[in-house]
Parts: sequence; structure tokens; C-alpha cells
Amino acid sequence: MQLFEKLTLKAKKHPKRIVLPEGTEPRTLKAADRIIAEGLAHIILIGNPTEILAKADELGLTNIAQAKIVDPADQAVIDKYAPIFFELRKSKGISMEDARKTTANPLYLGCLIVKAGEADGQVAGAINTTGNVLRAAFQVIKTAPGITTVSGAFLMLLPEGCPFGDNGILIFADCAVVPDPTAEELAQIAVCAGKTARDIACIDPRVAILSFSTKGSAKHERVDKVIQATEIAHRMDPELKLDGELQADAALVPSVGELKAPQSGIAGKANVLVFPSLEVGNIVYKLVQRLGGVEAVGPVIQGLAAPCNDLSRGASPEDIYKTIIMTANQAIGDLCD
Ligand code: ACO
Repeated sequence: MQLFEKLTLKAKKHPKRIVLPEGTEPRTLKAADRIIAEGLAHIILIGNPTEILAKADELGLTNIAQAKIVDPADQAVIDKYAPIFFELRKSKGISMEDARKTTANPLYLGCLIVKAGEADGQVAGAINTTGNVLRAAFQVIKTAPGITTVSGAFLMLLPEGCPFGDNGILIFADCAVVPDPTAEELAQIAVCAGKTARDIACIDPRVAILSFSTKGSAKHERVDKVIQATEIAHRMDPELKLDGELQADAALVPSVGELKAPQSGIAGKANVLVFPSLEVGNIVYKLVQRLGGVEAVGPVIQGLAAPCNDLSRGASPEDIYKTIIMTANQAIGDLCD
């Protein structure tokens, strides 16, 4: 079964509540309409109800009327959610007036609805920048227990017959958020990537933290960082199958893994690759995508207390539809039945 078939079945079986703060945006409305028609999630749209329903009508979308609509101009809505934002940010010196203004911003209002436990995740970014989408999530949804660093993973859907990964999938992280992670942050990226592999790719993770050195073949402070990250990650999640420092060939190719790291349980069979910096992760995922003809799905934002995913501003209705399904699957967790 293809990945999205599996994710669609899981979303249908355990429908989650997903907020779409860009509620009047046509591509978002088309995706929402399809999600509702297929029963894959309960949709909460943020925006002016009259405008949303008029736009849906204009686009011939017959299911949008079933979505819950939250109007950010409704003062009763602001009265309800602004105190939550004020509590979260009062240590930063904001006033209640500032909190009310920020709450009226749909990106923040959506996150506050999630924070209040009235939704399970958010998808935005069709008309907002990555920084704005993520900042709202960092400030309101905040990080998962034991995690302080949010990062972004890609699911690399490999061509038929490719010998790497599991079920035709490799996970790459971080490719989107943390420019220069410390050893502690790198360890968190690795642990979160393991969870992403379980939740969205439905695979048992075997995580390799990559370097230009395999098991001491090179000496450098950047190699030391990867060794330290590996130790921290083991302490954070002793059950997770993980090893480092490994070069990419030692991580993926059984004969090279056997030669360079014979004691490793991961070398030669990694299905989750963790990069030592964002420069490496972002460049590698784009090269693999373009040179290898590999479909890159993501970034899947990982490490938040509840999922909030960012769209490319060029996203199609199909991309938004798939991101909603992925977000629902993150909210469901690792039930791969
Ligand atoms: N995890 C958790 N919290 C974070 C993180 C993180 N990775 N980064 C910032 N925060 C928190 C901060 O602690 C701070 O919280 P506070 O206000 O409660 O103190 C808040 O978020 C804002 O922090 P800033 O340092 O001001 O972060 P900023 O808003 O400048 O940046 C951003 C956040 C935009 C995500 C930044 O990390 C960034 O630009 N990353 C690179 C994104 C990028 O350009 N990626 C490549 C393109 S994406 C692609 O190709 C797929």
C-alpha cells in the first residue's frame, strides 16, 4: 500500500480536529472541502463566516458548510482566547491589550484553539511565511515534553526498486528549521525524527546521526558534536535504535557499514538520516530530490506539543490536502493499524 493510502485510512479511522487559519484562501478551501467530503478530519476554519461561505459557493464547494468557522473579529472569541495568550506571554512583558491584538491574528488564534484542547493540529502557510507560522506555534503550542527544539523532517519517497529505506521511504532531518544545532539540539532532532518515522511513515526507526567520520575515522570538533549528540540521544530514548557518528555510505550500504562500523546495529540499515547542520540537511534533501528523482514530502514539523505544519506559498489544493492528512496522522501518533 502506498504511503498516502495508509495515512488516509488512519485519518479516516481516527478523525482529528484540524484548524486552517487561512480560512478564506481558495486553495485551502478546496482542500478542506475534499477532507470533509472524504471524512478524513473535522475542519475548523478561521475567518469571516459570510466571506468563507460566499467564497465556497463561488468555488462550488458543497461541504464547507459542515466546517466549524471561528471569526477572529468576534469579540466573544477574543474574550475567550486572549487570556490564554496573556498567561503564556505575560513573563515577556505583554499587556492584555497586546494579547487581544495578537489573538485576532488567525495564525495565533488557531494555535490558541489547539492549546485550549479544542483542536488537534494546525496547517497554515499558503499565504503566510514559514517564520510567522512557526513563531506562533513556538509561542503558543510550545514543545513536546522533554523537547526544547522544534525541527523539520522530510519523507523521501524513493523510486521503485531502490534498495534503501523501509517501504520505499527514508526520513531526513533537520532540513528546515535549526541552522546550527548544538549537540543537545541534534540529539532532540534525532529522537523527534524517530517519532516522525513511527507516526507518519509507519516504520520502525533505525536512526543514523551523520558526519564526515565513521567511528573515529576523523578527529574534529564537529565530529565530537555528533558523538556527544549520539550519547545524549541514547540517554533521552534508550529504546530508540540509533547510532553515530556514521558517514552516509556507512549508514546506508550494508557492505560499507560492515567494513567501517562492524559493531553498529544501525550501519548499513539506517532508515532515518539526521544531518549535523541545516546547511547539510537542506542542501542534501534538495539534491536527492532533484538529482535522484525522489519525491520529498514535508517539511513535517516535529517536536511541538501538538502538530502545526507549514505549507509552501506555492502549495496546490492537493499539497494542502496531503499536509492536512499528515498533520492528522501526527496527532493520532504511532497507531499503525
Ligand atoms: N524550537 C523551539 N522554539 C524555538 C525555535 C525552535 N527551533 N526557534 C525559535 N524558538 C522560539 C524562541 O525560543 C522564542 O521563544 P520566546 O519568544 O518564547 O522566547 C521564539 O521561538 C522566537 O525566537 P527567535 O529566535 O526570535 O526566532 P525567530 O522568530 O527569529 O526564528 C525561525 C524562528 C523563523 C523558524 C528560524 O529558526 C529560522 O529562520 N529558521 C530557518 C528557517 C529556514 O529558512 N529554513 C530553510 C527553508 S525551509 C525549506 O527549504 C523546507
